[in-house]
Amino acid sequence: MYIDRVSAVYFSPGGTTRLCARETAGALGSFDEYDFTASGAAVRFGGGDAAVFAAPVFGGRIPAPFAESLARLEGGGAAAVVIAVYGARDYDDALLELADAVSARGFRVVAAGAFVARHSMVPQIAAGRPDGDDRAALRRLGELAGAKIAAGDFTAPDIPGARPYRAYGGVPLHPAANRARCVKCGKCARECPVGAISADAPHKTDNARCITCMHCVYACPNYARALSPVLLAAARTKLKKSCDAGRRPELFL
Ligand SMILES: Cc1cc2nc3c(=O)[nH]c(=O)nc-3n(C[C@H](O)[C@H](O)[C@H](O)COP(=O)(O)O)c2cc1C
Repeated sequence: MYIDRVSAVYFSPGGTTRLCARETAGALGSFDEYDFTASGAAVRFGGGDAAVFAAPVFGGRIPAPFAESLARLEGGGAAAVVIAVYGARDYDDALLELADAVSARGFRVVAAGAFVARHSMVPQIAAGRPDGDDRAALRRLGELAGAKIAAGDFTAPDIPGARPYRAYGGVPLHPAANRARCVKCGKCARECPVGAISADAPHKTDNARCITCMHCVYACPNYARALSPVLLAAARTKLKKSCDAGRRPELFL
């Protein structure tokens, strides 16, 4: 089958998931981008489409706001490649959940992959990932998916994970603004995926809404937002024990 249009659809608070989505989509052809980090759109796809969906792994799951955005898409039989990007602990049920979410919208999942990237809460973990080898594997995933689609082979890959998916309890850490550095430009409030930051009082994060996606920390032009260094040090010690930065890309076709 000939691919008319390639799209990269992703949720990427810290930017690594976007990078992964672009590598794979680029291997399929020139592509349109749908960045659903700050907001999603109701997009309709069709039979000649190939879409690359990429999600960061949060607690072994895909982020809830991304799942909500995916529920507004119409697949119309389009081919899909799904990618889970994780910080060297594990992707648990996230890749399966992503495949299920897009299949439920009428996409046909032909390929999947799991890739390690810098841990967005503790960037010392898996620093420098995705590296050159990861990027090559991401492109290979796109090439292999493209070959399958060209041959009219829409068989679904066997994707690891379990249903029901593991419960996600959230993270008890939330970024806050340093009042001396914050100039109240409002960027964090505009871009927060869950509307947890007030534009007038950005130093106040609504912790009940905040999903600790870290987007405000990475997006702030003045480096004014951060997690509490004390709590982060404790999280770092715990995470370092459970993460293995030696994990290599996994491709499923
Ligand atoms: C709230 C939160 C939960 C996370 N949970 C996991 C996890 O369960 N397993 C894992 O390996 N990495 C986990 N990570 C790390 C991210 O999956 C990883 O850093 C990913 O590259 C972030 O993508 P981004 O840069 O596009 O935001 C978590 C990060 C955050 C912020």
